[in-house]
Amino acid sequence: MEQPKVAGLLYAVEHTHVAILAAMFDLSKRAVVLTGATGNVGPAVLRAYLELGAHVAIPVREEAKGAALRDSLGDLAGTAEDPRILMRASDPGDAAAMEGFVEEVLRTWGRLDVVANLIGGYAASDAATGDLAAYRRYWDQKVATIVTATTGCLRPMRARGYGRVVNVASTAALEGEKGAAGYAMANAALLRWTESLAEEVKREGITANCVLPRIIDTPENRAAMPKADPSRWATAVEIAALVVFLSTDEASGITGTATPIVART
Ligand SMILES: NC(=O)c1ccc[n+]([C@@H]2O[C@H](COP(=O)([O-])OP(=O)(O)OC[C@H]3O[C@@H](n4cnc5c(N)ncnc54)[C@H](OP(=O)(O)O)[C@@H]3O)[C@@H](O)[C@H]2O)c1
Repeated sequence: MEQPKVAGLLYAVEHTHVAILAAMFDLSKRAVVLTGATGNVGPAVLRAYLELGAHVAIPVREEAKGAALRDSLGDLAGTAEDPRILMRASDPGDAAAMEGFVEEVLRTWGRLDVVANLIGGYAASDAATGDLAAYRRYWDQKVATIVTATTGCLRPMRARGYGRVVNVASTAALEGEKGAAGYAMANAALLRWTESLAEEVKREGITANCVLPRIIDTPENRAAMPKADPSRWATAVEIAALVVFLSTDEASGITGTATPIVART
């Protein structure tokens, strides 16, 4: 079983939290597209969706990485008759590829109810140097890719009058950061786009929200900040809990929001 990269005891407590969520909320009639599933947070979000009963489609950049993730899930991945994960090498930033991926989801499960986007990464770039090339690279990753992936999923959602869009950005969307101008600008742009989408589709049964982690407990952050106390940082399961809640029927009234997850920082 793939364990989130937190201490075993904390994992056990958090796993109980997911079990409690699973007892309260039911996603067994829902099909989810999850992008960025192969990162640090992705496996915890994928597992939480599956534990709430959802079927989850993951477009991945590297098939081997996607297969390893699927294989780590054991019985949660479903059976040959009822595969609960649809994994394909497909670029969510390519509109035609995304259209083909969405068609396959619809052929397989007959529906697409939720899209959750975890695509991202951190890249430093100064404001003072005006490094437009670096800003554009991060824009392409964080904004263009997620907008393309989401709009690919919106067509069937709008046709059926039901949908949940959850975009994971960063608290940098709310406030500029020294040495991270491109990162802050792109996250702010994704937040504004998500708010705009929420306004456009709010009477169509579709919600769109952002989740804004500050620092997540990841191997990269532990390596970059060896003197920091990682227990203060958000865990992958803490991010997953909000992402899946925003994906439920019960979250129908929540749209256009941006919720910081600062954990104990
Ligand atoms: N880590 C933090 O402290 C922190 C803080 C605030 C916000 N966040 C945000 O939280 C989310 C999850 O964080 P994380 O640590 O899990 O991120 P991560 O480990 O860097 O994973 C990023 C995921 O996005 C995918 N990806 C990156 N660029 C892509 C592209 N151009 N096209 C398609 N897929 C792409 C990666 O695929 P591959 O596996 O193929 O590389 C991976 O699945 C991200 O959106 C991140 O920006 C993180």
